[in-house]
This record gives sequence, C-alpha cells and structure tokens, in this order.
Amino acid sequence: ARTAAVIPAAGRGVRLGPGAPKALRPLGGTPMLIHAVRAMAASRAVALVVVVAPPAEVAEVRALLDSHALPERTEFLVVPGGGTRQESVRLGLDALPPRIDTVLVHDAARPLVPVDTVDAVIDAVRAGAPAVVPALPLADTVKEVEPRAADRPGDPEPVVATPERARLRAVQTPQGFRRDTLVHAHDTVGVDGEGATDCAGMVERTGAPVVLVPGHEEAFKVTRPLDLVLAEAVLARRRA
Ligand code: CTP
Ligand code: MG
Repeated sequence: ARTAAVIPAAGRGVRLGPGAPKALRPLGGTPMLIHAVRAMAASRAVALVVVVAPPAEVAEVRALLDSHALPERTEFLVVPGGGTRQESVRLGLDALPPRIDTVLVHDAARPLVPVDTVDAVIDAVRAGAPAVVPALPLADTVKEVEPRAADRPGDPEPVVATPERARLRAVQTPQGFRRDTLVHAHDTVGVDGEGATDCAGMVERTGAPVVLVPGHEEAFKVTRPLDLVLAEAVLARRRA
C-alpha cells in the first residue's frame, strides 16, 4: 500500500478574524500549515504530502516547505485550491500519482494531531475499511433548530429536536480512504451549495461504509481566536 496525505489549506480563515490565510498564520512561531505537514510526514507510512494552497500563495507555500526541516523520505507537492473545501480536496486528489492507493485528507487547521491518531487511521484502512474517521464523544448536548430566517438573525431560535448525546460523535481529521472510494464519491456526489463539510459525508452518500476510530483532543480544529489560545498552550506544554 502506498499512502498520500492531502492537506486542504486554501481557506481564508474568516472566523479567525482578519489577517493572512489561516494555514499561514503562526503557531509557536511556525506557520500552522507546517505543523500539519509535519504531523502527516511523521507517520512512516506517508510517502507523499499534497498541500492544497490558497491560489495566490502557491509560491509562498512552496518556499515555506523548502525552508523548514521535513523528513527526507517524504515527497511534497503544492497545488492551488478552489472556492470550497470540497473543491480543494478534489484538486489535491487530481494531483496524486498512480501508485497511491490510500489517501488521508487532513485539515491544515488541525496542526496538532498526534502521529498515533494518523497511524490508527491508516492501519484501519489497510485492514480493509474503505473510509475511516477519527471521532470523539461530545461534551455539549446538541439541539436541532429550524433554519434561521435570514432577515431576523437576532431572534430566539425554536428547538426542533434533541438527539441523544451518547449516540453522537464529533469528527476530526485525518480521514482515511481507499483512493478509489474517495474518488468515486467526488465523481458521483455533486457540489452542493455550501459544499460538504467532511469527506466521509460524501462517501456515505455513495452507500460505502464509514467507520470511526478514536480521535484525540489535540486534533481539535483551529477555527476561532480562542482555539489559537488553546493551540499555543498545547504546543508550549509539549515543548516544556
Ligand atoms: N479549505 C480549503 N479550501 C477552501 C476552504 C477551506 O482548502 N476553499 C481548508 C481550510 O484551509 C482548512 C480546512 O479546509 O484547512 C477546514 O476548513 P475551515 O476550518 O472552515 O477553514 P477556513 O475555511 O479557512 O475557515 P473559515 O470557514 O472560518 O473561513
Ligand atoms: Mg471554512
């Protein structure tokens, strides 16, 4: 089996606030993307990392990869991304050479995922699961609401239902796939307005089985400013 990691990193990071594209913002003095690339390359199974960069920053990302110490055994490609995460993942898949049969898709915005989680996902794919997702139980109870009227954003929201929390999982990345399974999902599931928020959700729609393995607290996604505070603290603890 030959494994590649596709890292969608082409988002702007609107929820993080104004500044450089999220993947290029520093964490412990190093761009978040470099942490994510190192996390993938830390797995001995990963032979190739494809970074899907913001289209205006492809050269900058290439230069970043060349100027940071990365494992010699791993090959690195940089391709321009698209307007949605789903499109960016597709562009990354299109860049994979024929020898690759197993694909991880990992958010640049999850810079601190431990290598044991990466390896657990790869192992589950190699053991025969076509789609594998790291996931954790929820701390918060979740409510389902009516779609909000666009013209009344401040109104209280009526609750429709409360799904049983014990049956819910919050999913992370890297998500691992047989290459043919993920490419088939991209070929058959159309681009839906907002775009799928997760690759496994597209695979589910093709009817292929998706399984979960234990995720890790440190694989959380840096989305809002408070997440950056937590990420800096986790990194400082590791370096202590
Ligand atoms: N992503 C991408 N291409 C896009 C949009 C998102 O490659 N057009 C990537 C992001 O760079 C990120 C991952 O998908 O690594 C998860 O997306 P998210 O956390 O939503 O990042 P952003 O879209 O950048 O953030 P925001 O939604 O706040 O703008
Ligand atoms: Mg986004």
